[in-house]
Amino acid sequence: MATPSMEDYLERIYRLIDEKGYARVSDIAEGLDVHPSSVTKMIQKLDKDEYLIYEKYRGLVLTAKGKRIGKRLVDRHKLLEQFLGMIGVREENIYRDVEGIEHHLSWDSITCIETLVEYFKRDPKRLEDLAAVRRELESE
Ligand code: CO
Repeated sequence: MATPSMEDYLERIYRLIDEKGYARVSDIAEGLDVHPSSVTKMIQKLDKDEYLIYEKYRGLVLTAKGKRIGKRLVDRHKLLEQFLGMIGVREENIYRDVEGIEHHLSWDSITCIETLVEYFKRDPKRLEDLAAVRRELESE
């Protein structure tokens, strides 16, 4: 992965707290494949921008703003995973592809993808039709 953005950090922190109840520097570093010193630096920036409160011995706590944005980023990630899965992207490619595109799409595009996912969910027959077209094109 390229150098993680502030959004990558916030997304990772939100997910860790959601799943484990806390986010340690070592866990953040491992998930983003960066050196712990980079994590510490970004945590200071996120603290300064009021996404979280960092206390050396108590760890970090997301502020209301941090929670709201973090949730939005995690929801976006999940939506894109769902979308790529629906259109037939192979399981082993999904996570990396989502990491690659999620920060580059406008919220306009995200909303349109959300609508498309909903469109497919409303009638499973639509997904079957899509899969049939894919098989047809693959066999050409
Ligand atoms: Co992500």
